[in-house]
Order: sequence, then C-alpha cells, then structure tokens
Amino acid sequence: MRALVYHGPGRLSWDEVARPALLEPTDAIVRVDAVTICGTDLHILKGDVPAVTDGRILGHEAVGTVEEVGPGVKNVRVGDKVLVSCITACGACRYCREGHFGQCLGGGGWILGHKIDGTQAEYVRVPFADTSTYAAPAGVPDEQLLMLADILPTGYEVGVLNGKVNPGDVVAVVGAGPIGLAAITGARLFSPAHVVAIDMADTRLEAAKQFGADVTVNNGREDAMQVIASLTDGLGADVAIEAVGVPATFELATRLVRPGGRVANIGVHGEPVTLHLEELWIRNVTITTGLVDTYSTQTLLTLLTGHQVDAARFITHHFPLEAFVEAYDVFGRAADTGALKVVLSR
Ligand SMILES: NC(=O)c1ccc[n+]([C@@H]2O[C@H](COP(=O)([O-])OP(=O)(O)OC[C@H]3O[C@@H](n4cnc5c(N)ncnc54)[C@H](O)[C@@H]3O)[C@@H](O)[C@H]2O)c1
Ligand SMILES: [Zn+2]
Ligand SMILES: [Zn+2]
Repeated sequence: MRALVYHGPGRLSWDEVARPALLEPTDAIVRVDAVTICGTDLHILKGDVPAVTDGRILGHEAVGTVEEVGPGVKNVRVGDKVLVSCITACGACRYCREGHFGQCLGGGGWILGHKIDGTQAEYVRVPFADTSTYAAPAGVPDEQLLMLADILPTGYEVGVLNGKVNPGDVVAVVGAGPIGLAAITGARLFSPAHVVAIDMADTRLEAAKQFGADVTVNNGREDAMQVIASLTDGLGADVAIEAVGVPATFELATRLVRPGGRVANIGVHGEPVTLHLEELWIRNVTITTGLVDTYSTQTLLTLLTGHQVDAARFITHHFPLEAFVEAYDVFGRAADTGALKVVLSR
C-alpha cells in the first residue's frame, strides 16, 4: 500500500510500504476513506516532536471502513464505518476509567502517527478498536465526521472546558487555525459576550468571523492588549485560549487574561516557554494545559447530528490520497492558500 512517511525534519514522501497486519487480538485494520492533516503534523515536520522518528507513517485522524478485526474485538465489525479518534484508549487502566484517555497507561494515548504508524495511509492498524473508534452516525458525510477525530474535541475540551467558558465571558483565542476555530465553535455554545480571535494571518481572521468571532485582531499590526482592554474596562479577558504553540503566543495569553481569569493552553510547544510568575502570582490566574482526551466525542457527535455544530465549514480543500505531499504544502502555507482543514479521500 501507499502511505505518507516522515523521513526526518522537513522531509516526507508518499511511499510504497507494507500493509498493516493485526498484531494484538484487540486490533482492527481500517481502510482509510477520509483523512486529514493536523497542525501537530506540521510541528512534527519541524522536528518539534522528537518521539517521531524516520520511517514513521504520520496522521492521527481518519474515517474509514473496518477491513479486519482481531478475535478480542467485541463491538466493531468488518464493514463498519468508523471514526478513528486521535486518542487510542485501552479502556481498562486508571486514566481510561476516569475518562482521561489521553493519559492511557495501557498502551493507548496519542500513539497514532506518533509512536506507531498512523492514518495518512491507505490502511491503518487501530489498537483497542472497541474503545478507540466510534460508529459513524447515519447521514453524516465522512469528511464532517472526520472533524471529530481531533480538532473539535481538542478545541472544546482543552480550550473551552479547561478554560471554563461561562455565559457573558470575554474569550480571547490566540491563533485562528483549525484548533482555534474549533475553540471558537465550542465557546459559542456558552453564549459568551465577545469572542476575540487573534492571529497574524488575515485569511485566518476572515475565517474566524465565519466561525463566530465578533472581534478580530491582527497582532502583526494591532495591539491585542489594547483591544481586549477596551472590551473589558481595562480588566482583561475572562478566558484566554492559546492555540498556536510558540512562546510568544503563550506569553500573550497570560498577559491578556484578567486577574482571576483562566488561560487554557492548547498549543503543542517544541521549545521552553517563560512563565512570568513574577507578574502572574498576584493575579490569581489559573493556567491549564492538556493533551486532548476525547471524552467529549459523544457529545460532539450529538451536536453534529443535531446541526448545532457545523463541521463542514472547516473543510477548504480536497485531494486524492496520492496528492498527500501537495496537500501538506497547501496546509503548511495556510496564510497564502486560505487552507483550514484539507481532506484527502479515496
Ligand atoms: N493539546 C492538544 O491535544 C492538541 C491537539 C491538536 C493540536 N494541537 C496544537 O494546537 C495548535 C494549533 O493547531 P492548528 O491545527 O490550528 O495549527 P495551525 O498551524 O493551522 O494554526 C496556527 C495559527 O496560529 C497563527 N499564528 C502563528 N504565530 C502566531 C502569533 N505569533 N500570533 C498569533 N497567531 C499566530 C497562524 O497564523 C495560524 O493561523 C498546534 O500547536 C497544534 O499542535 C494540540
Ligand atoms: Zn492533531
Ligand atoms: Zn488506558
């Protein structure tokens, strides 16, 4: 089969590789029908995620059809259409039993396209298939369901729920890539007073307006602090969500938040970041971090099928699987191409 293989920083190719086989009784082999690229894959490509080594098939988001199941798989059947979540869950360890699947101790967590071969391929081996996939609801197009593999649960759990967005809050979202836009989508469910999107790319800020940001700030030429101050009587945002993953944006999020407010970091950081505790200690600020757990997937499926969340508007580009390298280029130059999520399908 063919797959998108990482060959060290800056290098990937669409290679001929061996088709995956069942390794454990709880595995399934899934034929990938629709797959996408994440901002985290761009971090990997930069060399920010050293656990990913030469030869790894990337990708942790897919919708596909089950081809084969091991004898230990109980609920997933050959022929089922499933969502393959970015988080794999053994279902039995302490963290899984508490719903913290991202921290799974039993061999799960974020492993696809990280510690084991991922979904950017014609076929993928999915460990713990019963607890790591979701049956596709009838009537939902594959590509919309695909948005629940990572971005929607991440924005919702690590941004909105960790940040405890409340009705009437002023929410600042730093970074309006797919993750920031997913956080805006999730924040809107709580009727905030204002959602302020902050990015350096005008194309992304235009998108943020479509997703429900009522104020946008290009922090390449505007002062985000001033804009937030003007909306909050000088206090600062109730919640600042960081959705980029570089030191400057984390520091900005900690400066935008009001005393007593919450900073929810979503970004994957590849280098050390300064925490200005000398300024923050007196301001009663809560800072959360997190890898998505995907405990909200079922809730989001309900919101998706009930048309309370619009997943279609994330999708800007379509490619066939064999155009993966081109799709990375388009996604990686989002400021020029206007790409949000690119979908590759058979
Ligand atoms: N915590 C998790 O579980 C989890 C899951 C998925 C993704 N992520 C991370 O979330 C982050 C965002 O993902 P994405 O897919 O939206 O990425 P992306 O690269 O598509 O978007 C990042 C956005 O940040 C903007 N940006 C860059 N520098 C900026 C600056 N100095 N000020 C303001 N904006 C700036 C870019 O213009 C871009 O629009 C990444 O770090 C990704 O790795 C985390
Ligand atoms: Zn991801
Ligand atoms: Zn577990």
